[in-house]
Amino acid sequence: MKQKVGVLGCGLMGAGIVEVCIKSGHPTVVREVNQQFLDRGLKRIDDSMDRAMQKGKLTQAERDAARGRLSATTDFEPLAECDIIVEAITEDRVAKADLWKQVAKVARPGSLRATNTSSIPLSSLAPHSGDPTRFIGLHFMNPVPVMKLVEIVRGIESTDAAIAEGQAFVEGLGKTTILAKDTPGFVINVLLVPYLCEAVRLLEHGVATKEDIDKGMKLGCGMPMGPIELLDFVGVDTTLAIADVLFDEFGDAKYAAPPLLRRMVESGFMGKKCGRGFYDYGGGK
Ligand code: CAA
Repeated sequence: MKQKVGVLGCGLMGAGIVEVCIKSGHPTVVREVNQQFLDRGLKRIDDSMDRAMQKGKLTQAERDAARGRLSATTDFEPLAECDIIVEAITEDRVAKADLWKQVAKVARPGSLRATNTSSIPLSSLAPHSGDPTRFIGLHFMNPVPVMKLVEIVRGIESTDAAIAEGQAFVEGLGKTTILAKDTPGFVINVLLVPYLCEAVRLLEHGVATKEDIDKGMKLGCGMPMGPIELLDFVGVDTTLAIADVLFDEFGDAKYAAPPLLRRMVESGFMGKKCGRGFYDYGGGK
């Protein structure tokens, strides 16, 4: 019997996590703050599974079975039945901590609690989770259905058993893991985000066009996407939030967000998910 999973948040990352869970046979409940966000997230999941079907990677029967495992809610109560709860809301320390306080009221004793944070220290969230010994980081990569890696983060109080359960769970989703300590940005983002910010600095200083920066890293270094394109893909706001956490925590200028990145977020150009970032995807904001 597969564990029942609860996913908090059905945005870019939450929807991807839900999709891989239901495709791997886990009964899953996804929670959003309101019906509008829920509907948008469910559409994202449906569209992604439809694309996989068109590409012959999923049969109609598999799709329907996966969809049948999914329930959606705006309440907290259904999380009481979950063996594993994965939080994947916006990269905001206060919002995440507040959410975990709510979840802690209903979560079953012994359930595994995980945050998909990409940079926020677990120690600022774990005390609110109801059980810091069962609290770990499961950092999925975007797009979740495609990227093979999940970074597992060990909080100060996470037990070996919790880490082992997290690892077995994500391996069951077809992912490979790396293990990181609870330091800001863990492994992936402490490497990736300064690289993305450096690309914005090149653009800001007029060293090259965004197209040439991207072409340079794709054709010159074999990256699947150039840094500016990747920044739009990950989310301009998400990248800024991570850069700010790294700078706040380390106080090192190499992590300082370039002004242009902040101006983009202030202007509402959050990247591909909202139709416009550094590139225009033909959408509004
Ligand atoms: N959902 C599901 N499947 C998707 C998808 C999505 N959103 N986007 C692409 N795919 C699938 C396609 O169906 C296709 O599958 P097949 O090869 O089986 O047909 C495959 O991925 C390749 O897609 P495309 O041919 O359409 O496009 P591509 O070759 O340009 O690849 C990409 C797209 C996989 C996204 C590739 O460009 C890539 O790997 N980019 C880099 C992504 C990356 O670095 N992600 C990590 C970001 S860091 C992060 O997430 C952590 C953080 O905290 C910020």
